[in-house]
Parts: sequence; structure tokens; C-alpha cells
Amino acid sequence: MDKGAKDRPLVAIVYYSFSNQTAKLVHHLRKGFRSEGFDVETVKLVPRDRLTFPLHSVPKTIAMMLKTFFRKRVPIKEIDTSPIEKASLVVLAGPTWSYNPSGPVLSFLDKYAPILAGKDVQPVISCRKYWRTHYGYLKKKIERAGGRARDPFVFTHNVKEPWSTIGTFMTIAGINPKQHALMRKYYPRYGHNHTQLVEMEKKARDLAKSLASN
Ligand SMILES: Cc1cc2nc3c(=O)[nH]c(=O)nc-3n(C[C@H](O)[C@H](O)[C@H](O)COP(=O)(O)O)c2cc1C
Repeated sequence: MDKGAKDRPLVAIVYYSFSNQTAKLVHHLRKGFRSEGFDVETVKLVPRDRLTFPLHSVPKTIAMMLKTFFRKRVPIKEIDTSPIEKASLVVLAGPTWSYNPSGPVLSFLDKYAPILAGKDVQPVISCRKYWRTHYGYLKKKIERAGGRARDPFVFTHNVKEPWSTIGTFMTIAGINPKQHALMRKYYPRYGHNHTQLVEMEKKARDLAKSLASN
């Protein structure tokens, strides 16, 4: 696609990332769209009260998991909605928290879902493993607002159980899994690997091409 800057289609990426995994995916998503001639604007959701990763506490980690199971909202700062209003595609990206969308994404949907009316919305989910309930909730909210939810791009942590669950919990609580011999052996990393980031970029390029040809 070779168009003048003012004719380029715009993609708005709305995202929240607690431990930087969605942020990494968003970086590659942006690269993919831009390489196909799309303009991309990102709208980062920022919690009103500071929420820092890691939590440095086991009780705080358990409390957060419990609250998020009941879809507790995390209030967010005001956002500039103009990129979303102008966009031909809206990407909504974020992690799964206790099977649900994260608290900041829930707050975004509570307040801003009406802007998604008439829009194509591409969910991007970063999770250890569980995404279906998360996606079901996003789809319901997007469709109730009059938007169209596309099938999600899902990225899980590519690590076997139970090491993935243990390693994710330790990392969020601020305990380095590499301090433990078994974890050193069975838990290569927290989050997404390089291959997945390359895959994200390719998915963005493919989507951009299909949007351009339509
Ligand atoms: C409070 C909390 C709850 C989580 N619950 C789930 C879950 O139910 N299922 C899952 O697959 N991952 C769960 N995770 C893991 C995150 O979805 C995963 O680490 C994701 O890659 C983080 O993305 P981010 O760095 O963009 O925040 C949870 C993480 C946190 C902090």
C-alpha cells in the first residue's frame, strides 16, 4: 500500500499492561501495521492510583487475584478518545486477570464502550493460559455497544504446568523463580517468547493486508 499520509487508514490501539507482556505485543502489532502503510495511534490505559509490578507481597498477590475474580474495576485516568473515534479498526489489548479482562480494561469498557459503536474491534489477549471467559466478556460488551468483535489474537505463556502457574504467581509476587532449582529447570521465562512477538507482527501485517484489500 502506498498512500499519502492523510489517506492512510488509522488503527487505534487501546491497551493496558501490568507486567509489560501486552506492551511488548503492542510494540510488534504497531510495527506490523506500520509496515503495511497504516497509521497507528496508541491509547494507554493508566490506573488513577499507582499500580506497580511486581507486588512484592504474597498476601497482596492473593488479594488482587480474589478481587479480580469478582471483576473489581481499577479506575483509570481520562483518555483522549479522538484516535478511537477516527480509527477504522480499534485494537483492545490487555492481560487476563482471574479469567476476566483486567481491571483497567473493565473501567475503559464501563465508561467508553459507546465510542465502539459501528467499529471493528480486534481483541488481543495476553495470558498464562485462560482467555475464553475474558474474550466472552469483551465480545458481549463490544456487541452491546454496537461494535463488531473480531476473533481474538491470543498469546499464552508457552510453559508446561504446574510450572507456569507457580512461576507466574512467584513473578507477580516479586519472588524470582530462578532462585529455586526446580524452577530453574522447568520454568524458562515469565511471559511471551521472541517467536510469539514475531508472530504478533505477522498477524498485524496479515490483518492490515486483508483490511486494505477489502
Ligand atoms: C491478578 C492477576 C490474575 C491473573 N489471572 C490469570 C488467569 O486467570 N488466567 C491466566 O491465564 N493468566 C492470568 N494472569 C497472568 C497474566 O494474564 C499474564 O501474566 C499476562 O501475560 C500479563 O500481561 P501484562 O504483562 O500485559 O499485564 C493473571 C495475572 C494477574 C496479575
